[in-house]
Amino acid sequence: MAGAHEQWSSRLAFIFAAVGSAVGLGNIWRFPYMAGENGGAAFVLVYIGFIAVVGLPVLIAELTVGRRGKLSPTNSIRKLSEESGSSSKWGWIGHLASLTGGLGLLSLYSVIAGWVLAYIIKTATATFVGVDAAGAQAMVGAYVGSPGTMVFWHFIFISLTVFVVARGINAGLEKVVTYLMPILFLLLLVLVGYAMAAGNFLEALSYLFTPDFSKINGTVLLNAIGQAFFSLSLGLGTMIAYGAYLPKSISIHRSAALIALADTGVALLAGLAIFPLVFAFGLSPSSGPTLIFEVLPIAFGQMPGGVVFGTMFFVLLGIAAITSSISMLEPAVSWFEEKQGITRVGAAIFGGTLAFVVGLLTVFSSNEWQSIIPLASLGVVEINGNPATYAEIISFIVSNLIMPVASLMLAIFVGWYVSRDHLRDELDLPEGGIFELWHVSIKYVAPVAIGVILVWGLMPQGEGLPVEEAAPVEISEEAQSTSDASEIQEISISSTE
Ligand code: PFF
Repeated sequence: MAGAHEQWSSRLAFIFAAVGSAVGLGNIWRFPYMAGENGGAAFVLVYIGFIAVVGLPVLIAELTVGRRGKLSPTNSIRKLSEESGSSSKWGWIGHLASLTGGLGLLSLYSVIAGWVLAYIIKTATATFVGVDAAGAQAMVGAYVGSPGTMVFWHFIFISLTVFVVARGINAGLEKVVTYLMPILFLLLLVLVGYAMAAGNFLEALSYLFTPDFSKINGTVLLNAIGQAFFSLSLGLGTMIAYGAYLPKSISIHRSAALIALADTGVALLAGLAIFPLVFAFGLSPSSGPTLIFEVLPIAFGQMPGGVVFGTMFFVLLGIAAITSSISMLEPAVSWFEEKQGITRVGAAIFGGTLAFVVGLLTVFSSNEWQSIIPLASLGVVEINGNPATYAEIISFIVSNLIMPVASLMLAIFVGWYVSRDHLRDELDLPEGGIFELWHVSIKYVAPVAIGVILVWGLMPQGEGLPVEEAAPVEISEEAQSTSDASEIQEISISSTE
């Protein structure tokens, strides 16, 4: 139980870790094109609204459960349920979130992050210099068509993640985020500066910040709330696990607000680093998931300083990915450690191996097994407009089912079953004011919002709400041909067919 007894050594270390978890591929890769395709500023506003009204209360709830329980997500929830005289079966939320969800997402995330690592080397060795659209596309095709290379980088990335988590909270996670997060912020600012100087900044500004409210419909709402959950790392036990290492002296609600602010800020800055380059070269801003692998290399290949700044960009993505992936593994590892009495190192290797093996399904979904549709006999042939390969199915289960269901159940548990006094004590807040606002949000607003959107997102196409315009519009033709590129593209509580 070593992990459970460790604590973040400072507030800053905790903030870096939590922001590191929140800021990931979701912000730098997914947010920009989601915003662009869902009405620009209209989407951004709805997204920020969901962060404030649903995301922030759930984030506070997760951190509170973690700190009160001081154990793995499953055992923290159990401890709180015992304390409040309710059923220990609530602990299943923890299993669902951390074992199935956390490891499931890590399996996908690592494949994409491995691709990022491969592209760091490609950019740094000037492979993209002078490349045109066909060339960049061919490189993507070559990468996703080569299972051996993909498995190699997937393995490297998982190994890095395991290595950090195995070293524990202080010597592992905290140390890594303390070094990497300042570098991440610095790189991001440099890249925004570069985009301002070398790209078409004004067009990017108007693309991202000129609202087109006519574009707000059910799909946009689904995408926005899905992005809010994914981006704040909710529903996979991560913030419960991180809360367990939180010293009592640190204010949860203030920290949570800061985390949400930083997360949203990074997402917006990422848009401002990417789109000016895209526009400067007349490239397509709505090329969806392939934007960074297929479109940006063309820009970096032609710009002055493109090798240096392109490399910086992929390093930035790599840092964002590793500080998130460790947070996907930690919840499961803390449970293995407590439950099985195995060492942290053993637990990290075990969890990492599971994620690595499951990740192979994603790797092969883009090449050898591209035409295998595992649930065809059940009539599931497409998910969000993509062929329902293993990668798509895992992605859908984690992001469209586990994240919202676990968050919904946690909101109900905390709002309705955990004693108000215990919550107030943990949050160190008086009755009324902020506490009341949060409690109403977690008891009523969050469950209703998540519940409605969950049902909505699961409704078959065309039933009632405008889901027919859902995620498929995000996928360019090229993306369809490289189906693995889309596996975490529709990570959102989005429609299913
Ligand atoms: N928040 C991360 C991102 O935006 O890329 C992804 C993530 C990390 C989701 C950890 C969930 C999680 F538990």
